[in-house]
Amino acid sequence: MDKLPPSAGHAAAHPQSEAAVAAAVVSSMAEARAERGPPLVEMRDISIAFGGIKAVDNASIDLYPGEVVGLLGHNGAGKSTLIKALSGAYSRDSGEIYVNGELADISNPRHAKRYGIETIYQTLALADNVDAAANLYLGRELRTPWGTLDDIAMESECRKVMGRLNPNFRRFKDPVKSLSGGQRQSVAIARAIHFNARILIMDEPTAALGPQETAQVGELIKQLKGEGIGIFLISHDIHDVFDLADRVSVMKNGRVVGTADVGDVTKDEVLGMIILGKCPAGAIPGPGAIANQLQQRRPPATLS
Ligand SMILES: Nc1ncnc2c1ncn2[C@@H]1O[C@H](COP(=O)(O)OP(=O)(O)OP(=O)(O)O)[C@@H](O)[C@H]1O
Ligand SMILES: [Mg+2]
Repeated sequence: MDKLPPSAGHAAAHPQSEAAVAAAVVSSMAEARAERGPPLVEMRDISIAFGGIKAVDNASIDLYPGEVVGLLGHNGAGKSTLIKALSGAYSRDSGEIYVNGELADISNPRHAKRYGIETIYQTLALADNVDAAANLYLGRELRTPWGTLDDIAMESECRKVMGRLNPNFRRFKDPVKSLSGGQRQSVAIARAIHFNARILIMDEPTAALGPQETAQVGELIKQLKGEGIGIFLISHDIHDVFDLADRVSVMKNGRVVGTADVGDVTKDEVLGMIILGKCPAGAIPGPGAIANQLQQRRPPATLS
């Protein structure tokens, strides 16, 4: 609460007008920027519609270096769609993306990679029949002066990257299909960061993993944070997010309900954001909260 300007807290509790709350949100974001410098990424007022359906509606989120921002919300809330605008997989209908404070031109995945943005999808997109090094260099293989594949150089680089990420990894000669879920996840992360990713998007990285492997991915995420990489972590698991994230942004019906430091809100309050769209005092409200609260204030419809 003490991070919010008084007007934002007041507006969250007693909504007056969308404009007043929006002004408070902008001023609190400006305050944060003054304190921490420009964010690594800022997605501002992003909207994406499929046919007549607004999958993402005026959503704004940001991410600072060495920070994990958890993106939470029910199925169909718009999390993946929003993040696909950042990875260049979807084009947006409106809104801007800033990287390190500069307006970024991202309209396909190649552009996103140029800005150091890498995405790890739940499917991981690994080539199952080849080893970790071949996956690391998939499509960007190193070659000897004679034009043949430079397996030695690729394996040596792979050992370096994996040594940094997951020092216990030993199975360099095995096809990745024989690796555990956690090991496969580390190969996918190694591939993403090897080419200088500064911004990592992880969409449900632990959804298919057991508790031990989930813990392993948690360790990887902490390691990446320590290197100054910013991570958007999409997850259904509120406990995972509270363990790993510095801040959370909650989406509902394509809109951002609010954003909060995990230390400023309880899990129950975040559940209230996810389920009801109710923004607690410790969070900065987004347009999703305003609409929801205004809706609650409308008199019930009467039949005439
Ligand atoms: N390619 C598409 N074409 C049409 N509609 C889509 C497309 N992708 C997403 N949608 C719709 O957009 C809305 C948001 O979907 P999205 O996948 O972003 O939600 P999500 O929050 O990631 O959900 P989940 O937790 O289930 O992954 C949904 O109504 C979904 O049906
Ligand atoms: Mg999704």
